[in-house]
Amino acid sequence: MPRVSRRRFLQYTAMAAAASILGCTGYAEQPVLPHYDFESLPGLGVTARRAGMDYGAAIRYPQLSEEAYASAFAKECSVIVPEHALKWEGLRPAAGVWNFQPADALCEFAQMHHMKMRGHTLVWYFAFPKWAQQALDKDSGARMLEEHITTVVGRYRGRVSSWDVVNEAIHPEDNQADGMRDSLWLRALGPSYVERAFSLAHAADPSAELVYNDYGAEFSGKRADAILGLLRRLKDKGAPIHGVGIQAHLWATHAIDVKKLQMFCKEVKQMGLKLLITELDVKDSDLPDDIALRDRLGAARVRQFLETILAEIKPQQILTWGLTNKYSWLAMHDQNASERPVCSLPLDQTYQRTPVWKAIHDCLIKLQSGLN
Ligand code: G3I
Repeated sequence: MPRVSRRRFLQYTAMAAAASILGCTGYAEQPVLPHYDFESLPGLGVTARRAGMDYGAAIRYPQLSEEAYASAFAKECSVIVPEHALKWEGLRPAAGVWNFQPADALCEFAQMHHMKMRGHTLVWYFAFPKWAQQALDKDSGARMLEEHITTVVGRYRGRVSSWDVVNEAIHPEDNQADGMRDSLWLRALGPSYVERAFSLAHAADPSAELVYNDYGAEFSGKRADAILGLLRRLKDKGAPIHGVGIQAHLWATHAIDVKKLQMFCKEVKQMGLKLLITELDVKDSDLPDDIALRDRLGAARVRQFLETILAEIKPQQILTWGLTNKYSWLAMHDQNASERPVCSLPLDQTYQRTPVWKAIHDCLIKLQSGLN
């Protein structure tokens, strides 16, 4: 009986655990491949461009000052998305006060590295400063919406190529007509605030790609249908909408509704809209601590998600919500992240490529070779 090394034994045990966990979520995990040097492969942005699309990531302005991270970001990404700097909360700390410096610096970084820049996000119910919440009502709503969008989109005209114009306007749980979210924007302006926002953004920069961004299209439930309903209404009204962003905050242990995601992609294509994957990452807070296991389960989920979409439509961009586990928002929002590093993104805490990196790379290679 050949001796099984401790490392190999641990791998087999982890695989058995993975198979049992993933089995319950309906997706067989990829076999554990022998380690090979994928550090020498080109950045995801290069591979994506060769497949006729883009890969990029969200970044918070303070992270730019870390040289190692800035160069890892430049190596991997062809698109940059400010994680916070272009939100109301990031831009407008107080009434009448505009803080463009972080977004300007990110824009400069993008131009220096020949990256595209996405703007996230002009209208959202969250990250909406207290002063604005108190000011927004039926009388002020139209002026506040116009002033904000015209100022921000106008400032970055020709430099921000694509905007999340409205983010997360759908929330069926609020029991509003058409599954709309019961937000201050809806109360101030009614559902037409969405198409108003798109028209204002188009007027401020006719060359910008305008996107509606939301989450949950990949899961069972009412969200995907409600998002599609909103897109159809926008198209029927002639709103200048060019694409839809699905955020793709996946879970390693929550099954994707493959049929629903396939239907969603077909409908988006039928409407003539582009599809962007805007905030891809994998939550795994309910998994055991074993990092190798979590890496593999997360990568298996990313691979399943991307393969499902790529079989239906070629996304305009694949964007992860952060590039390195070290700076994932999940660490900020997961109280036990300090003992248990996040395993969610293409680079680990020391900027080494992870199985999630490989899953995205492999899907891009398949796209390049037309094997989808
Ligand atoms: O910049 C301030 C800092 O000055 C202050 O000291 C600190 C403590 O209060 O807060 C800092 O702002 C934080 C900001 O992130 C920048 O780091 C906010 O409190 C915090 O709420 C904010 O969280 C962001 C969240 O959106 C709300 O804007 C997350 O980083 C960001 O990853 C998350 O991203 C959202 C997308 O925009 C939309 N889709 C879901 C996604 C995850 O929630």
